[in-house]
Amino acid sequence: MKGVILAGGTGSRLRPITHTGPKQLVPIANKPVIEYAIDDLRESGISEIGIILGDKGRDTIQAHLGDGTEFGVDITYIVQGAPLGLAHAVGCAREFVADDPFVVYLGDDLMRDGIGDLIDDFDPEQYAAGIGLQEVDEPSRYGIVDVDEETGDIVDLIEKPDDPPSNFALIGVYVFTPAIFDQIERIEPSWRGELEITDAIQGLLEDGNRVQSHIVHGWWKDTGKPSDVLHANRLVLDEIQSDVRGTIEDEDTVTGRIELGENSVIKQGAVIRGPVSIGESTIIGSDAYVGPFTSIGDDSFVDNVHIEASVAMGKNEIAADRKIVDSLLGYDATVTSKERRRPEGDKLVVGENSSLEI
Ligand code: DAU
Repeated sequence: MKGVILAGGTGSRLRPITHTGPKQLVPIANKPVIEYAIDDLRESGISEIGIILGDKGRDTIQAHLGDGTEFGVDITYIVQGAPLGLAHAVGCAREFVADDPFVVYLGDDLMRDGIGDLIDDFDPEQYAAGIGLQEVDEPSRYGIVDVDEETGDIVDLIEKPDDPPSNFALIGVYVFTPAIFDQIERIEPSWRGELEITDAIQGLLEDGNRVQSHIVHGWWKDTGKPSDVLHANRLVLDEIQSDVRGTIEDEDTVTGRIELGENSVIKQGAVIRGPVSIGESTIIGSDAYVGPFTSIGDDSFVDNVHIEASVAMGKNEIAADRKIVDSLLGYDATVTSKERRRPEGDKLVVGENSSLEI
């Protein structure tokens, strides 16, 4: 079986972070989100992976993942171009997957327990598709299904409904037989102007095919919005094991589980309360406090600040005489304080679509 990861799209809900890079490379506990999808596919025995790319951030994703050798997989890149919808993106993989069943994984999703059970459960003799589902609190944000309680078959699907028939959302992993491709060719754009994969699956049902539901129990997260990135970071850090490759000058002030990358230094006096992930070549100065559920990326400098429950993506200078919480800092962003501020006040350069709570 081959795998297809959808990594096109615009990432508009993650602006300004996605002004400069694709959302699939946003790091969660210092690992780009798309690498979680690659790991899940590899761990369920899938090594041939097609990655669907949009126009935006295409080179960055290719430069980062290369031919996949570093991740133990073989990657083929397929260019979708403009983000015409999930069904259009899947349709671009037709030649790549040829005549076999295949798995589709949304490149900005991550899930705790992987996709092995979903694949093992799927029987292509009986079903045209198998869909990963989970109960959600805000069904109008997702594709929602109606399931026949007796058979477990999906009987209806609707994308981001105003009046949801259930709370079971499509979580972004699908197993398809090639029957899906003819349906994709038949559908029309939805009210939001996209070719919806939910409409193509609905077409399978209307043609008399069976579609299997598979409830995924471990946590699952779509990292579409900044608050989702912070939440995903918390979920992943909650389960990390300590892995110290850099230098901790004084173990007494470092508690809890911590990942510390090569060439990074936690200076004497710095207080770290895990779980915390710190990348490579980063300095945590002696007047820093780094609190639980924080990830600091590579090549950064953190001092004279209290930071917790936040994600700093890398190349950051964070040295403000402040408490920073629940914050997402893009690459190369700096947060500093002037020692003597005249006139008193905060100096801000705030990009389009940013939100600051100060
Ligand atoms: O997260 C689960 C939800 O994902 C499902 O419940 C919905 O049924 C499904 O439509 C999808 O909704 P989103 O609105 O969250 O999809 P999004 O636009 O974020 O795209 C998901 C991924 O697919 C993302 O990595 C970008 C990629 N993509 C998206 C589009 C529209 C493409 O590769 N090409 C595209 O044309």
